[in-house]
Amino acid sequence: MWGPEGLDEVEAELLGPPEDLKGKDVLEIGAGAAQCARWLAEQGARPVALDISHRQLQHALRIGSSFPLVCADAGALPFADGSFDLACSAYGALPFVAEPVLVLKEVRRVLRPGGRFVFSVTHPIRWAFPDEPGPEGLSVSASYFDRTPYVEQDEEGRAVYVEHHRTIGDRVRDVVAGGFRLVDLVEPEWPVWNTSEWGGWSPLRGNLIPGSAIFVCERD
Ligand SMILES: C[S@@+](CC[C@H](N)C(=O)[O-])C[C@H]1O[C@@H](n2cnc3c(N)ncnc32)[C@H](O)[C@@H]1O
Repeated sequence: MWGPEGLDEVEAELLGPPEDLKGKDVLEIGAGAAQCARWLAEQGARPVALDISHRQLQHALRIGSSFPLVCADAGALPFADGSFDLACSAYGALPFVAEPVLVLKEVRRVLRPGGRFVFSVTHPIRWAFPDEPGPEGLSVSASYFDRTPYVEQDEEGRAVYVEHHRTIGDRVRDVVAGGFRLVDLVEPEWPVWNTSEWGGWSPLRGNLIPGSAIFVCERD
C-alpha cells in the first residue's frame, strides 16, 4: 500500500509487474512493521526490511518475517554497493530526515545499474492546510513555501517527532541531486470504495486535494 488513499502495488505496478518481482533483491526503507516486505516475499522477491526504530522491527518480528530485518539509518545503509535490484519506501524515512539527498544517494549506491526506487511521502500541498478530515481542513492556513519542520517535544523539550516539509520542486531537485532520473510522479486519486477517515485523511479532502505523492526514480 503506497498511502492512506489505498493505492496498492498490485494495481499500481510501480515496481514493475508482480510476476517480475520473483527472485529480485528488494530493500524496503523505513519499513515499520514490514508490511511491504512481507507482500514482496509473497511474490517471490528477496526483501530486506530496514528501519531506524528497533521497536518497529520488533513488531515486524512479532507479526512474522521470513526475511532479514535491519536496524539502521536510511542515510548510512549497511550494505555493499549494488546489492539490490529495487528499493521502496511507503512514507518511510524521507519525510523525517533533514537531508533527504543523503538518503537518495545511499539508496542509489546500493542499487544495481538500472535499479528503481519508488517512495511515497505526504503530498507537499497538504502542508498548507490544517490536518483535519472535515471542512476545516479545506482552507489554506499556512504557506506552502514555509519549510519549517513540524516538531513535537516531550516535557524536557526533546524532539520526539519531526516531519520536514519540502515543496514538490524541492523533492524533484532532491531526486536529481541523489543521482536518479524521475520516471513518474503519481498523485493517487481518492477511490470511491475508500470511505474511511483517519487523522486528517478523509474522502471529503481526498476528493479535492492530493494526499500522497509517489516518486518513481531510476538510476543509470
Ligand atoms: C510512517 S512510518 C511508515 C512505516 C511503513 N513503511 C508503513 O507503510 O506502514 C515511517 C517509518 O520510517 C522510519 N524512519 C524514520 N526515519 C528513518 C531513518 N532515518 N532511517 C530509517 N527509518 C526511518 C520510522 O521508524 C517509521 O517506522
